[in-house]
This record gives sequence, C-alpha cells and structure tokens, in this order.
Amino acid sequence: MRIIRTKDYRDMSRKAANVISAQVILKPNSVLGLATGTTPIGTYEQLAEWNHKGDCDFSQVSAYNLDEYRGLTHEDPQSYHYFMRQNFFDKINIDLANTHVPDGANPNADEACSEYDRIVREAGYPDLQLLGIGRNGHIGFNEPDDHFSKGTHCVDLTESTIQANSRLFDNADDVPRQAYTMGVQTIMYARSILILASGPEKAQAVYDMCFGPVTPQCPASILQLHTSCTVIADEEALALCPEA
Ligand code: PGA
Repeated sequence: MRIIRTKDYRDMSRKAANVISAQVILKPNSVLGLATGTTPIGTYEQLAEWNHKGDCDFSQVSAYNLDEYRGLTHEDPQSYHYFMRQNFFDKINIDLANTHVPDGANPNADEACSEYDRIVREAGYPDLQLLGIGRNGHIGFNEPDDHFSKGTHCVDLTESTIQANSRLFDNADDVPRQAYTMGVQTIMYARSILILASGPEKAQAVYDMCFGPVTPQCPASILQLHTSCTVIADEEALALCPEA
C-alpha cells in the first residue's frame, strides 16, 4: 500500500482529484468505480471545477457505483443514485447513460445483484476504484464479517453504520436497514484502488486497514493484498499510523 499523508480534508480532496484526473487524461474512456459518503464530496467538487475549466473531460468515462440502499428509488433524495447526480454527475460532462448504481428499487435482491455483477463484469471492471472507509473498516457496505464477500449482494447494515449514516436522515429510524453492495472480491478486481479517509473517527479503521491483520473483521484490510492500492488520508485519520 502507498500511503499519502495530507494536512487536511481539502488537501486530501485535491490530491485525490489529481489522481483521478490523471487516470482520465491517460485513458479518456476509463471505467471508474465510484463511492458515496461525505469523504469524496470535496474530490468530486474539485473534479467538477477542472471539468468546467476544460481540464478534465468525462465524456468517454463510464462509472459504476459501489452500493445503493435497498428500497429507495433513483429519485429518492436519500438514494445514492440521487447523491451522485447532485454531487458529481450533473456537474460534469459525463453521459448519464454511462453511469451505473445498483437498482435499489428492485425488491428482488438476487436479480438486482446478479444484474449489477453482469454489467460490471461486461465493463471489464474498474480501471480505478475510489473508496471511502467506514468507522468499522467497511468498504462499500461490506461490513465486518467472518468471511470476505464475493459479488454484489444484499446486506443488513450494522447498527454503527445506521447510526453513522443517520446524520443524513431526519432520524435513525428513516435509515434503510439493507443495501445492495459490490462485494469485496469485485472491488479487488479493480486495476487500481484509491481509498480516502479524513478525521479522527477514522483513525482506528485506517490503522487496522494498513497495519492490522488481513481479516474480514476489517474488510478494508484485504486492500493490503492489492497490487496497486493508494491511501490518501489526512493527519487526523493517520494519527495512529507510524510516519513513513
Ligand atoms: P463517509 O462514509 O465518507 O460518509 O465517512 C465512508 C464509508 O462509510 O464508506
């Protein structure tokens, strides 16, 4: 793993945007794996600014998001589909037909998940997968477990994830209890991985990911085995990690 220490969230976001921008410049028809959450918002803002200036062209890019709440339609303002349009897709020149999020509105979990696996496989898997990390070490919605997951599947969200995500809802009871998420194996198929972390509440998860045992109890720890994984994290998130 390559660890890049940044002074704060803004610095993390700019450096992450630089990595993604370089990917798109080098390969204009890149397949990007994208993430939701608070962490990548600054990265998306920076990329949108560069896109606006003509410095980063997304017209040939295709995008595959990690996950979606089960039971929410694309139009639901709490859905990840909506989040991606609001925070990124509607601000750049990507073709919306080339953007993909698991279909949370499909109540048939097996069908929704196998269909998503099919389209990600047919796209050849991401050239670059952007990730955030949960306080419990989750990636996508792959929560701590006794085994690593494989393809897209339906998960029960843990109480800690429901609590963490409730800040974006009126109250915790409104947070969906299930989600469809790409599996850990699919995430590992990406040719390169960029994982971001900011803030003291991520410090333990970041330490466990980078220096702990590789275990499904910290799903992000599997990234130690990826051949091209870059961590960009700020001082607070790296507080428990030794300086390189
Ligand atoms: P956050 O979520 O960016 O909102 O902290 C990260 C995650 O849970 O993957």
